Amino acid sequence: MAESGEEIIRLENVYKIFGPQPHGRAFDLAKAGLSKNEVQRLSDHVVGLHDVNFTVNKGEIFVVMGLSGSGKSTAIRMVNKLHEVTSGQVWVDGVDVQTLSGSDLQAFRREKMGMVFQHFALFPHRNIIDNVGYGLKVQKVPKAQRDVASMRALALTGLEAYAHNAPSELSGGMQQRVGLARALAADPDILLMDEAFSALDPLIRRQMQDEMMEIQNELHKTILFITHDLNEALRIGDRVCIMKDGRVVQIGTPEEILTQPATGYVAEFVQDVDQGRVIEVQEVMMDPMPVALSTSMSDALNSLGDRAGTFVVDDSGHPSGLITSADIALALNVGSTNLVQAIRTDFDRTTPTATLNEVYAAAGRGLPIAVVDNSGVLVGNLDPRLIMEEMGRVEQLIDGFEREVFM
Ligand SMILES: Nc1ncnc2c1ncn2[C@@H]1O[C@H](COP(=O)(O)OP(=O)(O)OP(=O)(O)O)[C@@H](O)[C@H]1O
Ligand SMILES: [Mg+2]
Repeated sequence: MAESGEEIIRLENVYKIFGPQPHGRAFDLAKAGLSKNEVQRLSDHVVGLHDVNFTVNKGEIFVVMGLSGSGKSTAIRMVNKLHEVTSGQVWVDGVDVQTLSGSDLQAFRREKMGMVFQHFALFPHRNIIDNVGYGLKVQKVPKAQRDVASMRALALTGLEAYAHNAPSELSGGMQQRVGLARALAADPDILLMDEAFSALDPLIRRQMQDEMMEIQNELHKTILFITHDLNEALRIGDRVCIMKDGRVVQIGTPEEILTQPATGYVAEFVQDVDQGRVIEVQEVMMDPMPVALSTSMSDALNSLGDRAGTFVVDDSGHPSGLITSADIALALNVGSTNLVQAIRTDFDRTTPTATLNEVYAAAGRGLPIAVVDNSGVLVGNLDPRLIMEEMGRVEQLIDGFEREVFM
């Protein structure tokens, strides 16, 4: 998570209209609330961004996610003023970016941000270390000094050994890593990454995500990361901003996006790619190991082990109550030795074939969920902690799944 709540990037009521007369009728129509399609039909102009607002905090990985054409690249280009806004304001580290031009703008870009794009072009006739140090060379940093910076960046990205190789000797994934090293070489506060990993194979891509997060743990940059891949967004983002047709539809932590989708659009997205959908409760639940009501308080406590809780069953195996170590401690505190005093009956139930998505909200209570078969007999104990763990583990399964949705 972000180290502090201090903001470093802010887009405020930003509109971007593409076309010969961006301030003309198209802008009026957009402001009046017409959709991107309607504006296009009526004015032949394209709405790139429609009243976009977001802030990125220092040290945070902020991910902008959306389908092709939703405005992600347009949004990131506002931050380094590769585009002018049609209306609205863009602040970076207290500076109104729109006021910058010429050499001021160049210096600002150079000092504040590094950029990594999807198809990262290396100079074929320069070796890796010179490719990484190219930006510094442009800044007239002496060779010895830029080599030190470049080697440091290459070390961060695991490419030290290739410093003196030619780009053609590196795989696509390694070349993309050189792109990251180049962005890091100048040690900017902000990294702008537009689909930086999207061209990579799923496995390599995951490695890159992991590496980036490791680097982030060390360097605490602010990363504005763009992807069309919700899974990637949820995996790496401290917060995720979902865009559609030039508008922001939701900003939230990955958990908020998953559990409280703001609109039907987000819900559909989440449903289509969310890991929870493909995992069933029976794959994650634990052996029930229930206790009987006659069990002593101390035996019950022992049988809990490191479980979040265990269920009490009646003679026919139906769960009748839940005990947790916290509840036992409470009962013992008031001098009770009867297990009945520690039992709670407000537990949730589910079935073995329910999906993790379906039990996600219940799991949010932090209590184990009773897994029962058709006749109500306890067949499993579902620990809420395992749900989160499992959702991380199966990401790989999703990649194929996900591609169908987005291609
Ligand atoms: N230079 C431009 N001139 C005209 N229209 C543009 C320009 N750049 C972007 N657009 C339009 O603005 C909208 C948003 O484009 P943008 O490139 O930001 O989308 P994106 O979310 O990055 O998509 P992708 O995932 O395909 O990269 C699209 O409808 C696009 O056609
Ligand atoms: Mg784009």
